[in-house]
Amino acid sequence: MMPGPQTEQGRQAPGKLRIAVFASGSGSNFQAIADQAASGQLDVQVELLVCDRPGAYVIERAEKAGVPAFVFSPKDYGSREDYERVLLDKLRERQIDLVVLAGYMRLLTPVLVEPYYGRMINIHPSLLPAFPGTHGARDALEYGVKVTGVTVHFVDLGMDTGPIIAQEPVPIQEGDTEDTLIERIHQVERELYPRVIGWMQQGRVQLKDRKVAVLAE
Ligand code: GAR
Repeated sequence: MMPGPQTEQGRQAPGKLRIAVFASGSGSNFQAIADQAASGQLDVQVELLVCDRPGAYVIERAEKAGVPAFVFSPKDYGSREDYERVLLDKLRERQIDLVVLAGYMRLLTPVLVEPYYGRMINIHPSLLPAFPGTHGARDALEYGVKVTGVTVHFVDLGMDTGPIIAQEPVPIQEGDTEDTLIERIHQVERELYPRVIGWMQQGRVQLKDRKVAVLAE
């Protein structure tokens, strides 16, 4: 139903949001979203999992949740644009309203970003713009910051550079290792990502230039 975040023209009537989740790994975020969709806490339909790593645990999670998966190997395609055209067809076939990147460890090209700009979100394990990239938690720990966190943002063509929708802090504790820190970050992610998806479903997220406002309920 919904063509994206709210514009200044006002809100659209909320309805069930058709989402596709893109993931490359374990899929704890996928699980949190699928669980809330199944219990009715989130008014969304998880229509599709897209996974670029055959063998990733998230594929098993999708099977158990009854979510169809499209699994592919990037090396089977000539270029990123080639496989993204295939992915775009899948998204269109299933009339996907919102693309949710949840540990999808690949940069996207304009083939996907342009048609879905404002309708594609990502979660990242740091307080952006600090520590973008593939090891947000490790990089924060190594740098020695006292507080890191989680960011949910719209996806643009950069690496973790899109307009920020929500952030939650996670304090670094004495003696933290990468594993203990990631575990606490994951706890925050499992709560924050479904919350932001709920805001999107309710038509409460307004994007203007690179500023995002979340409208009151
Ligand atoms: C999450 O912590 C997510 O923030 C991170 O990958 C993890 C995936 O975990 N994403 C990035 O680092 C993106 N730059 P999961 O597979 O258990 O959901």
